[in-house]
Amino acid sequence: MFMSNHFAELSASIPTVVMQGYIVLMVLLVMGGTILDMMHKKSAQYFFENAKKAQKSAKRSVGAGEKVSIAATVLVNEILTSGEFNNTRRRLSHLLTMWGTIIFIVTTAIMIFGYPTPATPTPALLPQLWHIGALMLAVGGYWFWLFIRVDVSAEGLPWFRFERADLFILSLLATSTFALIWSFTGGGLTLFFALFVLSSTVLFGGVYFSKFAHMFFKPAAAFQKRVTHADGSRENLPAEYDLTDPAVHAKFPDIPEYMGKNPAYMGLGIKRESAKHY
Ligand code: HEM
Repeated sequence: MFMSNHFAELSASIPTVVMQGYIVLMVLLVMGGTILDMMHKKSAQYFFENAKKAQKSAKRSVGAGEKVSIAATVLVNEILTSGEFNNTRRRLSHLLTMWGTIIFIVTTAIMIFGYPTPATPTPALLPQLWHIGALMLAVGGYWFWLFIRVDVSAEGLPWFRFERADLFILSLLATSTFALIWSFTGGGLTLFFALFVLSSTVLFGGVYFSKFAHMFFKPAAAFQKRVTHADGSRENLPAEYDLTDPAVHAKFPDIPEYMGKNPAYMGLGIKRESAKHY
């Protein structure tokens, strides 16, 4: 079961060209949904206007070489290793979900385009990776859905309550769940296959309505954030002052009046207690 390419077996009932056409259609739907989403939210326009505004309050200019090095940091830190998550559970769950999705989608495409029929035997590694990807996605996704999602972990709402904002995670979960059940029940043209196709169509066709496109926007936002730190504009936020630094005392002479001569470092307020206010 873990070794067989169920898509090649399916070629006896569904022409290969139909399966390949479906993949192309899904790619087009993701592109179309992302462009519509950008037009609707005017996110690209906001992004460039905001970047220009930040440039005006820049304290120094960031050269092309430095920008390349910032892009490399974003690739390694924010994109490949989900470094933006400042919470181990959320980061691990995101890593499982993201890498599981990538492995699952890439191996599906390779099997359907590269090994479409039993006449071209599929290397065992591909279906194995396909199952591993789907399992990683399911584990990371259910962990997020049942325990980590703000609605349940901080708002105290029941896990089964959902709204439109949950379309992305729910369609991801449905896709991986039905893909795995379809495979465990032997593949073929079954009800589980229909549910697998339906949920993946919702996942890729629902980009305009879901959080799918964050995977393209977040890297750009992370890059811009690092640029604002490098050029000193810092989105007009104050610098991170060290309250024990005499230079800071000189700059803000009323600090001792409010906080004593040697104020303790109190850390980030946001980290003082976890959000569980229900
Ligand atoms: C295959 C790729 C990816 C998948 C499947 C994925 C999946 C997810 C899921 C399920 C969530 C939770 C969404 C929710 O609140 O309902 C999420 C949130 C998030 N993702 Fe991704 N993601 C991917 C790529 C990326 C990339 C490339 C980045 C950053 C460079 C990123 C950064 C984030 C961040 C920062 C959040 C938290 C969003 C927030 O709370 O506002 N993700 N992702």
